[in-house]
Amino acid sequence: QKRVPLSALLANPFLGDSDSPLPLPAEIYGEIAGAQRPNPIGVDVSEESQRSALMQAWRHELPPQKTRKEDPCDTIPERMRKLQEAQQRWNSLPLAERCACLLRAADLLEAQRDSFTALVVWEGHKSWVDAIAEVRETIDYCRYYGLLAQEQLADRRLPGPTGESNGLRMEGRGSMVCISPWNFPLAIFAGQLLAAIVCGNSVAVKPAEQTPAIAEAFVALLQRAGVPTGVVDLFHGPGRSLGAELVRATGVAGVLFTGSTGVAKQIQRSLAASESPIVPLVAETGGLNAMIVDSTALPEQVVDHVLLSAFRSAGQRCSALRLLFVQDDIADGLVQMLAGAMALLQIGPPEDFASDVGPVIDVTAQKRILAQIQRLELQRGKLLARSPWPSSANITGNGSAAIMRDSLGRVLHFIAPSLYIVTPDQILAEEIFGPILQVVRWSGSWEDVVEQINTFGYGLTLGIQTRIDRRAEGISRLARIGNIYVNRGMTGAVVGVQPFGGAGLSGTGPKAGGPHFLARLCQEKSISINT
Ligand code: NAD
Ligand code: ALA
Repeated sequence: QKRVPLSALLANPFLGDSDSPLPLPAEIYGEIAGAQRPNPIGVDVSEESQRSALMQAWRHELPPQKTRKEDPCDTIPERMRKLQEAQQRWNSLPLAERCACLLRAADLLEAQRDSFTALVVWEGHKSWVDAIAEVRETIDYCRYYGLLAQEQLADRRLPGPTGESNGLRMEGRGSMVCISPWNFPLAIFAGQLLAAIVCGNSVAVKPAEQTPAIAEAFVALLQRAGVPTGVVDLFHGPGRSLGAELVRATGVAGVLFTGSTGVAKQIQRSLAASESPIVPLVAETGGLNAMIVDSTALPEQVVDHVLLSAFRSAGQRCSALRLLFVQDDIADGLVQMLAGAMALLQIGPPEDFASDVGPVIDVTAQKRILAQIQRLELQRGKLLARSPWPSSANITGNGSAAIMRDSLGRVLHFIAPSLYIVTPDQILAEEIFGPILQVVRWSGSWEDVVEQINTFGYGLTLGIQTRIDRRAEGISRLARIGNIYVNRGMTGAVVGVQPFGGAGLSGTGPKAGGPHFLARLCQEKSISINT
């Protein structure tokens, strides 16, 4: 493993969250093009000065409690009216001023990275490594969308006959609604919001109920970066009532949603039933992500990538590995190696630097995963390996689930990383949003495996482990999947490097952190003048 000092990771922008070299688009990233980015698991958190800076933020800079507030739905019409007024002023500012706000936000976040990192650990229950990566990803979004907007959204002259001047202008669509999940409480919340505002939209933004304080802190930072009051209105409350009302509100010009496939479909139905003008929806949703391993793959490499992709972040990533398809002749050996590696994973509170696997977000998530495990076992999925609980007086529970207290005395809910062997007809074909991996043996053709993956209907991420290049190419072509990773981990897409988003049940596109995202949030105006 490459190991990178934490100070280097904290000090450099554009380090994101995966282990590929940065083929940075020079026109976007300018002077840092060509830089190499480290492997996040290689972050050396043993560096004492950095640990103590983070612990300092953890002990002294956190709010005393979550700032969860319930916003009554009956204020929505009035607040939407104010957002529409603010949008007109914001949209008429020069593009460069809007972009400058995002670049200033990046600098401010960089300066406050320790406190934001601690906040993500505290409220999002993420490990330090995950939280550092999330703050980095958010800085990347600020700079990427700020610079991309400068490049793509400026007025354009188009060709035409003599005596005619033709142009294309990109403007904000109006007031948009952004709704985000708790599992990337800073990066996804911010990514949606930044993209929408830089295009000249105002935004009614609703974070997940579980992570209000992170949202408050980022909106306050945007104001310090120069985004005028009124351009962003933060709504706190339950998705089922408040989120649904926001989507239905009069005057909504577009909805950006990231979350579960079921809720995306509800939003789609609600927009389709509305009497208002046709409202576009950008939805990024769940996945049933597979990795195909053939008998030429390097076993040690596969084990590393499976552990990272299935169990890091306690499996609470939309991109995480759920179904591991292993070619029959290497399956026994590989499963044995995986079981051995899983026995070494350390389960523990997120603020403990030694923890490999932290808690799931709350008791509701823990219960949902336990119910899915029960269904998997009813379908005769066979438990083959489970990471051990630490021997600590602080822990209650056994089997798949336990509770533990963190250093602040809060009760956290855990699920142990588990590996189940299933046959193709025993697969639980739904997203289990936790550290549960189903392993399937395959012996026929790889084409049949890809067809089976395609029939699930999801299409977010796919891992391929093979040393046959033509096979990797063939699988990539046949799979209806948005993000494909060959001989590497399949999580941690980097802004501007691995534009992220799925197909089918996994989302509508365009890809977040990619070159086509902003255009979808703009109203295009073609202006033709007879000179
Ligand atoms: P969720 O769908 O329950 O909630 C997401 C957001 O929608 C929350 O803010 C919630 O309050 C709101 N919401 C809930 N019901 C609503 C309704 N009827 N109308 C409007 N808003 C509503 O998802 P979650 O549990 O917060 O997040 C986990 C899910 O998100 C997983 O399925 C995961 O795969 C997915 N996810 C996808 C991506 C991606 O980029 N594709 C990224 C992260 C998470
Ligand atoms: N963009 C996040 C990842 O790739 C969800 O893991």
